[in-house]
Formats: sequence, C-alpha cells, structure tokens
Amino acid sequence: MSENACLFNPTNIDLKVLAQRAHNLRWAELPTGVIPLTAADPDFPAASVITEAIVRYTSSNYYSYSAPKGYLPFREAMAAYMQTRRSYSVGVEGVLPVDSAAFGIYLTCKTLLNKGDEAIVFDPVDFLFAYSVEAVGGVAVRFPIPAGTDRVDFDSMESLLTPRTKLICLCNPLNPTGKVFTREELLQLAAFAEKHNLYILSDEIWSDIVFQPHAFTSIASLDKTVADRTITVTGFSKSYGLAGMRLGAVMATDPVLFERLFENSLHSTTIHGVNILAQVAGTAALNEAQDWLAGFIQHLQRMRDLTVSRMNAIPGFHCLSPQGCYVALVDVRGTGLSSADLQARLLKEAKVAVVPGLERWFGPAAAGTIRISFATTEEILTTAFDRIEKNLAGLCAS
Ligand SMILES: Cc1ncc(COP(=O)(O)O)c(C=O)c1O
Repeated sequence: MSENACLFNPTNIDLKVLAQRAHNLRWAELPTGVIPLTAADPDFPAASVITEAIVRYTSSNYYSYSAPKGYLPFREAMAAYMQTRRSYSVGVEGVLPVDSAAFGIYLTCKTLLNKGDEAIVFDPVDFLFAYSVEAVGGVAVRFPIPAGTDRVDFDSMESLLTPRTKLICLCNPLNPTGKVFTREELLQLAAFAEKHNLYILSDEIWSDIVFQPHAFTSIASLDKTVADRTITVTGFSKSYGLAGMRLGAVMATDPVLFERLFENSLHSTTIHGVNILAQVAGTAALNEAQDWLAGFIQHLQRMRDLTVSRMNAIPGFHCLSPQGCYVALVDVRGTGLSSADLQARLLKEAKVAVVPGLERWFGPAAAGTIRISFATTEEILTTAFDRIEKNLAGLCAS
C-alpha cells in the first residue's frame, strides 16, 4: 500500500473531532451512532501541507487586510492550475477569490441577471443553482438530464428559450448523478450559447473527482469566444476537505465581465472579502497537495465501486456508476417507499443518514432517489451498507 493510501484508512479519521466540527447534516448534527452519508464533505483530515502553510503564514502574527482582488499567490496558483490542468488560459487578472463556490454561483447570478431574467438550470442538480437564480429575482427554468443520459442533446433546450433567457448554469461533473459531460456535448452547448447569445456559468467544483476512463473538459478551454461568455466557478470543499474555510474562485477572461463580478463582490468596499488564511490554504492545496489529491481519488474510485455494487445488491435499489463526484444517486422506487419515507426509516431504524431526492435539494427529477456520499473509509461504508441491507431485507421480493 502506498504512503498516500494509508491516509484514507480508518485510523486516520478522528470521529471525536468530526462529532464536534462536521456540520451540514453530518456527524455534529446527528444523534450519536448515526453514520452520515449526507453532505458531500469528506471524513478525512485535509493534507498536512495545508496546515503547515497556514502555520508558516501565521508565524509572523500579522493578519492585515489582503488585496481587494485577492491574495496574489492564490490567484497565481489558480491561474497556473487552470492553464496546466484544464487548458484554460484565464491569467491571474481573470481570477477572483470568493468565500465559497456557493457564493461564486450567487455572485455570477447577481452579476448577469436582472429581475425576471431566466436562467436554465439542470434537473436534477444541486439546489444552489435555482436558489441563487431566485435569490437575485431571476427565474430558474429546468432542463432535464435524467441519470444515465449518455449523450445530452443541448439543442433541445431551444424550446425553453424566451427573450428573457440570459444564462445557462452548467454543473460539470453533475452533482447528484455524477455525469461528466463529454467534449462533444460541451462543444454543442457552447455553440448553442453562441447562437442564442447566452452566458454560461460553469461550476467545476467537482472537476478533480473524475473516475477513469472519463475525462473532464472545462468548457472555457474550448476556445476564446466560449471563454469570453463563460464564468467558471470552483471551490475547495470537495477535492481538499476545506469546506469550513469557505474558499472558492470565479474566473472570467472578458475583462469587462471580470470587473462587473469584482464590483458586485463588494470586495473593494471591505463589506465582503475572503479570509487570508483560506487563501493561504487554497494556495497550498493547489501547489503542494496534488499527491494527496491523487491518493484521495484512487481511494474514491474503490469506494465508488463498493457503493455501486452494494446498492445494486439491495432489492428495490438501482444505482448507476457515477463517472465523477463522490456521491451516488440510488433509484429506490422499487422499494415502494418514497425518498422521504425511506430516508426517515433508514435514519430511525438503521441509523444511517442519506439525502432524500426532494425537489428542494436537487429538483423534481430526483424524485424516487436517495443520494449517498462515499467520501469515507471502506469500514464505515461497509457498516452503513450492512445496516441498510439488514433493515430493508424482506421489504420487496426482487
Ligand atoms: C455543484 C456544487 N457547487 C457548489 C457547492 C458548494 O461548494 P462550497 O462549499 O465551496 O460553497 C457544492 C457542494 O455540495 C456543489 O455540489
């Protein structure tokens, strides 16, 4: 076993700390004994190089305001990462650190949408897109991408267009189905946006978590014209376990668009801004934690396979193998129970927490599903899956 693989062993998880600190439907918010396979937040501690970088920065005891457009080493690291790993030439001048990918989505909506403007939002997808569109007075128009769709025909979005349509919200890889959009699909989406003069919000927070043989393409890397109508959003909660740092970035190659994002961020007024230590952490993650990340992805690929095979062995469950993300969307309609009833039963009787496929989390297309996060150890997953299997034994015949 490689040194990195040891990092993802049960001995490297501190359940006592998680019980105090892991919120958002996880260990700290659930009764003792419940296993949370809920919010997509890893159980593993972050790479030690990140902590070391924070300690180095803090040793001078200075915590002055950072630059309104962000800490330069972070912006440089982000631009270099996008260039070398994503072939996206955004440059330092096009990178704006923000305090989470969630805020990056909201900031993009705030910048691009006026009251009553429409944005196309996938269905199912994480709630943050529709929530952000609506929070700025826009209208979220759902575009269905059912689990298992091999080839999305983006031209079929034409029927959703109105004179108020301004934006397409792309989530790639797609939480909660784990779909990774192919280059061909993205070329078609880009051509569609070009034809109808639409902006693209590309949320790529999951773009490191992609399982072979699938490959990630950043839509803004396709060409300069596409890049200029795209705002790329990313974050550090998924790949590096830094959710509590509240760090993300929005990126735009069009300087006018970038300045509008900056102005709307209110960073220049100091009303908003990104904690300097979060930016130090993000810099270390990008520059020094790539081996750690490779080990994490390797571990996740094994946990993905375990999750899919165990879920498909449960009568009434059907689970497609996610191409990316560390969540699996399980179709539970075969049990005869609704998502909400099954979630409540598993929580109460099996002491396993999952996310029910409710409209408020993922949109109407998630009905009849539950979402399971597998960013934990094989031992914790096995215990949770044994409990689910035992609880549901005999519920349905096949
Ligand atoms: C697609 C997507 N975007 C954004 C976020 C939020 O990321 P952050 O913690 O940086 O706000 C999530 C978290 O689940 C997500 O799945």
